[in-house]
Amino acid sequence: MKQIIMLGAGGFALEVLDTIDAINKHSGENITPIGFVYEGADKDKGKLIHDTGIPVLGDISCLQEYDLDQIHLVAAVGRPAWRRKMVEKAKKSGAKFTSVIHPTVTISKRAKIGEGAIMMRYVNIQAGAVIGDFFTADDFAGIGHNMIVGDFVHMCPRVGTEGGAVIGNDVFVGIRATILSCKIGDGAVIGACALITRDVPPNMLAKGLPAKHYDLKEKNY
Ligand SMILES: CC(C)(COP(=O)(O)OP(=O)(O)OC[C@H]1O[C@@H](n2cnc3c(N)ncnc32)[C@H](O)[C@@H]1OP(=O)(O)O)[C@@H](O)C(=O)NCCC(=O)NCCS
Repeated sequence: MKQIIMLGAGGFALEVLDTIDAINKHSGENITPIGFVYEGADKDKGKLIHDTGIPVLGDISCLQEYDLDQIHLVAAVGRPAWRRKMVEKAKKSGAKFTSVIHPTVTISKRAKIGEGAIMMRYVNIQAGAVIGDFFTADDFAGIGHNMIVGDFVHMCPRVGTEGGAVIGNDVFVGIRATILSCKIGDGAVIGACALITRDVPPNMLAKGLPAKHYDLKEKNY
């Protein structure tokens, strides 16, 4: 049995639980989530949430009570800024992270992916792609050939990307967005269904078809 702790307990974490079920079924592994940890969770400690039967363990500081050489974490938080914050805090307690890759995912043997990735159904990573740490990609998201993707990037379902695109750190890409061979700056947010035809500067919101650029009102994506 491989015990893990879920960092995060929102809707994305629920999807990750389904992905773990699929891995266990497909490979015969027995990955067992023993609890949820998130910021400010001490007030929910012991609660069984989302009908999962899995308890809230507490705030991230509670990780010190666990043998983190044996029990690894899964960074199950969708939004890049929140995921980075929680991962960095958990790492201070000595947390080590594991990747969760659905059995239907296809990854070129000529692609490179950093630590702590989460990929859901039918994600496709093409040859020559280089992807940083704590990448998360929801169902049917695609990374084109030779793309460079930074750390803590999140791709919502059915995102399409053209080969050679460059995506910075902490970028959130909304559902069904299409990114042509452009450069997306750190911290940018790409709206749902956006068509990205030109470079997006750091910390900007791009939305529309073709996308126009706007100042981000708040940086919590
Ligand atoms: C773009 C987004 C980040 C919000 O941006 P925002 O500027 O704060 O948007 P607001 O809600 O304030 O709306 C402002 C205007 O933008 C429009 N708008 C919102 N989202 C849009 C989008 N994705 N594309 C085009 N226009 C959009 C609104 O209709 C509104 O138009 P109006 O002024 O003519 O009424 C958000 O709508 C979005 O697309 N998030 C991604 C969500 C997602 O993919 N989730 C996936 C979960 S799996």
